[in-house]
Amino acid sequence: MPTAEYIQNITLSVNGESYTSQAEPRTSLADFLRYNLELTGTHIGCEHGVCGACTVLIDGNSMRSCLMFAVQAEGKEIATVEGLAEGNQLNSLQKAFWERHGLQCGFCTSGILMTLTEYFEINSEYSEKTIRDVLSGHICRCTGYESIVAAALDVANSKEAGNE
Ligand code: FES
Ligand code: FES
Repeated sequence: MPTAEYIQNITLSVNGESYTSQAEPRTSLADFLRYNLELTGTHIGCEHGVCGACTVLIDGNSMRSCLMFAVQAEGKEIATVEGLAEGNQLNSLQKAFWERHGLQCGFCTSGILMTLTEYFEINSEYSEKTIRDVLSGHICRCTGYESIVAAALDVANSKEAGNE
């Protein structure tokens, strides 16, 4: 149970929607998203910045939400995996993962999707090497990474062909 004397109101935006909830200063942003806001698409693996499962975008920059306190996200714009789909339709990155079998258990997937979302937003040229560099911040215990790289390359090729 939170200790009442330390509880703070935290207001932030997630996927374009404003939320206010109460938490202790020690609450991680990952826990705040999952337990206060019930946005459980953000996963928690190692809880010390290694696995990448908890990656979200904060004001457009990918961050480990396990390494950040929720109070530090006050007033920030957060993007999580729940915001990627367009209505009931997977976005192009999600579709590529589906088509290329870029996930198995899916535990790492939301973090990887958020990192790749940032990659495609901030770059206009893509390569297998830079995709592999970006993915080096994530641990996937199932896929062997090849199918994830293939999915990212599909999106890269589609963007470079002007299809997105
Ligand atoms: Fe945050 Fe592993 S849970 S990096
Ligand atoms: Fe299982 Fe990556 S799909 S850990």
